[in-house]
Amino acid sequence: MADKLSPKVSIIGCGNVGMRYAYSMIIKGAARELVLVDYNRQKAEGEAMDLSHGAPFVSPINIYAGDYPDTANSDLVVITAGRGQKPGETRIDLIKGNAEILKSVVPQVVKYSPKAIILVASNPVDILSYITYKISGKPANEVIGSGTVLDSARFRFLIGKHCNVDSRSIHASIFGEHGDTEFPMWSKAMIGGVLFKDYCKVCNKENCAKQEDAKLNEIFEDVRDSAYEIIAKKGETSYGIGLALTKISKAILKDENSVLPVSSLLDNYHGVSGIYLSVPAVVNKGGIRQTLQVDFDMVELDSFINSAEQVKKVIKASGF
Ligand code: LAC
Repeated sequence: MADKLSPKVSIIGCGNVGMRYAYSMIIKGAARELVLVDYNRQKAEGEAMDLSHGAPFVSPINIYAGDYPDTANSDLVVITAGRGQKPGETRIDLIKGNAEILKSVVPQVVKYSPKAIILVASNPVDILSYITYKISGKPANEVIGSGTVLDSARFRFLIGKHCNVDSRSIHASIFGEHGDTEFPMWSKAMIGGVLFKDYCKVCNKENCAKQEDAKLNEIFEDVRDSAYEIIAKKGETSYGIGLALTKISKAILKDENSVLPVSSLLDNYHGVSGIYLSVPAVVNKGGIRQTLQVDFDMVELDSFINSAEQVKKVIKASGF
């Protein structure tokens, strides 16, 4: 890894997700060198020029369009290549085309940056993270998927709205597949040190729907179905995932040991092994330091097993 003062990050895929991520990384001053790679070189060059012209307003950063040789010795390579969901499509519907793209991308990434941490954002991210791990031949801890980091942010935002509390004061996670079988960790959700399930006793919000099951289900379903709703309205999602990728990137580039619900290769996690899925993981410059075994309640354990079965099925069908 380059010295932490000058981390080099390469972005494979200059679509909306890749570019919102690039912009967020620049604003946060999280990298000193940003290489933009896309099959459409003109697009990559235009994006690099446009972003570079903000230089006087941000910390020094060298942004340029390149091909795979230009990504050499990256500390972190973020893969956003592939297409997004169309209205009504599930993330799983993207597997065939996006797996083909990653089959050509990953060997090039590893050829020029064999030591880089690889962060996969392309969907379906759990399956594509697994495929990236298999193709790359890298240790599993160096191949990470964005997982349910964004879903957990959505969960914290909506709980914050419900309870009228800053979402940064809320610890609440979504685990499992980044997709339709993800599930909420209500049993461990906390607001400023108060368990969510006890929060109503200390909250004095008028006319609150309290924690009726219907309201809790509504909050979770809004989280799970956010992408479908946003895509129906504006055709894609990109700002939220761009910020989520930046959060994960900073944990890696600044060696933070942050605990994040990224997608990682499970090894006997509640009996589940050999697939990528989101559970709490300690993330630092080496990638995944370890996962943290959560004590699920019965409903959460059933949901976790169901999610694992779904991902396993798709991985099997993908031929990897
Ligand atoms: C979403 C995409 C990143 O959930 O899957 O917005």
